[in-house]
Amino acid sequence: MPRKKSGPQKRRRRSIIAFEMIRLDRTAKEPLHEQLYRQIRDELKSGRFSDASSRLPSSRALATDRGISRSTVRLALSKLHAEGYLRSKPGSGTFIANLLPETFLTADRPKTYEPIQRPFRISDRVRAIPDARVGNQFDLGATGAGAGVSLVASIPAVDEFPIDAWERLRAQVLAKRGVNLLRYSSNRGDADLRKAIAAYLCDFRAARCHSDQIVITAGMQQAMFISAAAVLNPGEAAWVEDPCYQQTRRVLTLAGVKIVPKPLDGQGIVIARSPREPLPRMIYVTPSHQFPLGVTMSFQRRTGLLDFALAHNAFIFEDDYDAEFRFTGPPLPSLQGIDNAGRVIYAGTVSKILCPSLRLGYIVAPEPLVDSLVKIRSAMDQHSSPIDQATLARFITEGFFLSHIKRMRKIYAERRDFFIKEFKELLSDRFTLQVPEAGLNILAWLKREEDFPLIRRITLDIGVRPSALSFFCIDAKLKPAFVFGFAAWTPTQIRESLVKLESALRNRGKDLNYGRQSR
Ligand SMILES: Cc1ncc(COP(=O)(O)O)c(C=O)c1O
Repeated sequence: MPRKKSGPQKRRRRSIIAFEMIRLDRTAKEPLHEQLYRQIRDELKSGRFSDASSRLPSSRALATDRGISRSTVRLALSKLHAEGYLRSKPGSGTFIANLLPETFLTADRPKTYEPIQRPFRISDRVRAIPDARVGNQFDLGATGAGAGVSLVASIPAVDEFPIDAWERLRAQVLAKRGVNLLRYSSNRGDADLRKAIAAYLCDFRAARCHSDQIVITAGMQQAMFISAAAVLNPGEAAWVEDPCYQQTRRVLTLAGVKIVPKPLDGQGIVIARSPREPLPRMIYVTPSHQFPLGVTMSFQRRTGLLDFALAHNAFIFEDDYDAEFRFTGPPLPSLQGIDNAGRVIYAGTVSKILCPSLRLGYIVAPEPLVDSLVKIRSAMDQHSSPIDQATLARFITEGFFLSHIKRMRKIYAERRDFFIKEFKELLSDRFTLQVPEAGLNILAWLKREEDFPLIRRITLDIGVRPSALSFFCIDAKLKPAFVFGFAAWTPTQIRESLVKLESALRNRGKDLNYGRQSR
């Protein structure tokens, strides 16, 4: 059906078929135009062209490209036209026919192949990764948050990212360092960026480090992988907090590590172990603000953990993913800052402070470990984008980084207070909020455990989508709760989402009451 014309239409450009595979032999008996005709026809019959790349090059371009005369090209094309392989569109060019002659000629049907029935062999490594997602679920990234979905945990307000300032600095570094930013670059990371990060961490996280201890990574996840690969042999044990950030389990599994889940108490990870539990080579912790329970590791537990690591020759991996966003209580120095024995591998990320798509993070490693980490990075993907690294260095040294953190802390504090107030007003008959001192998430425990399946279903249906706490549990059997994110939504959006959740629960809660009575 002809498409309705509504106003001036944009001309749709189609990419031009390159015909890179055509080879003409001037010594052959077959005339050049015949060779050209035959090879183009075979290419067209192969069906390797998508709808978007169905335009042929002009006869002039084809002739110049192949070093033959235009009349040779015209002869070949006119034969293809005559046989129904091509169609002309006046003013637009020559295109592959919508239906090639083979479609209705039975004599030379394109061959179809029986699909091979044998299953693909997938490595055990893939199967071992605890990740049930398939297909386009991967397109939503680690948080699984599609458009129009709200109150998802761990999402920062990326719409507050100062994109103009970033773009200006990016243009400046490109103008200044030009082609040097286009080459392969240091596997450790940009020297200016490492200096800027070392200075920031010493000042604001009470770290004790210099820039030679810093390795720039593609975010926290890569920092974990590189560190695990550097300090653990396959099959050796890493202790992880249980519940735990889901990507940590996936990364450590990929690194071939045996994961030993450790429970948490009010002070942080529980160090005590049963005699049968393997000793760890690495202990993964989030001391500033445990993900997802929100516990801040006590000073006593920090020193206990450092002593334990030293006594058992283990490393501690300190994931300091969002320490910048602390709202109450005194800030505690990083574990790295109180480690006198070179046991802590500290790692940070810009995913929460700036935005996750930059894929930039950093490791502060004990000096003797640095070369091993860099060796692994160099064997993986060499380095992160030098342009982004140089831009981030300027972003930090010019003061944008600190002012952005300050601004975001204020915005998040307001959103957090608003979320707590509204949530208590609307949903306190079903949930008890556990308000953490820091971070972008808030945990809501169910008052009645049996509400869990209904609430879970409703949150999926209405697109107000906190994560079930159980998603992050390995062996831990905790009471049902949901982890709500508040940071990426304005007060109006927070209110709308909570009202939507409350009304869905009120209406569909009738089913639940019915279910209870009939049990
Ligand atoms: C505990 C924890 N660590 C790290 C990250 C971020 O990691 P990345 O830098 O790989 O984006 C998150 C994101 O939600 C997190 O929850």
